[in-house]
Amino acid sequence: MNKTIYFVFNVQNKVKMKKHLLKILNLGLVLISIPAITLAENPNDKNESNMKEFKTTEFPALPYAYDALEPYIDARTMEIHYDRHHRAYFNNFVAAIKGTALENSSIEKIFSEVSKAGDAVRNNGGGFYNHVIFWENLGKGTSKPSAALAEAINQTFGSFEKFRETFSNAAKTRFGSGWAWLYLTADKKLAVGSTPNQDNPLMDVSPVKGIPLLTIDVWEHAYYLKYQNKRADYVEAFWNVVNWDEVNRRYAEAVK
Ligand SMILES: [Fe+2]
Repeated sequence: MNKTIYFVFNVQNKVKMKKHLLKILNLGLVLISIPAITLAENPNDKNESNMKEFKTTEFPALPYAYDALEPYIDARTMEIHYDRHHRAYFNNFVAAIKGTALENSSIEKIFSEVSKAGDAVRNNGGGFYNHVIFWENLGKGTSKPSAALAEAINQTFGSFEKFRETFSNAAKTRFGSGWAWLYLTADKKLAVGSTPNQDNPLMDVSPVKGIPLLTIDVWEHAYYLKYQNKRADYVEAFWNVVNWDEVNRRYAEAVK
């Protein structure tokens, strides 16, 4: 007797199951009668599915069109930034770790000992990772800080406006090229700081250390076509395209 099949699974399992079913169909087998199967949700699986594993071997797609952030960040800048600058960091990073013990390490592990890995890994690994975080924390919409993040911001900075001013100042005053960050420290406190070049708060060489939550790229290649030397205007425009849903997700993950 046929029974309904119930699958309770996360996205990863969905993909695996689709592949599995396709294999079965390719073998010419017809699914006529299958006993009831219930794949109960494993809490650990759920946790894993909420985590975004950072793959060091894949160049991720930009999560939106080049013109999605217009007029605040123009399409031409996005295209060059993503497809040339970011891709070059990725390619050079992959080349730098190929055939080394780092090839199978997580990005967090690599960064935690990046001082031993050499400049090619530090600069290109940072360039690869930082841009992924940056693309993900950009987007146009109506998102806002979650209640939990808003409360933490108020406790740390006094108000959202004060936090925005602190973060903006970190971005505007970073000398030369680099990044400003909102990050979570080891004692689960919010903090704002900046890093030079392609360094980030996960690196052992960084003067600010923690888990990145929100970042802005203040290399000139991020804004020069539209804003020329006016970095401050670019930083102010940035606040119109912060994807708080992603920042909230990263915060919820980091405070666990
Ligand atoms: Fe960049």
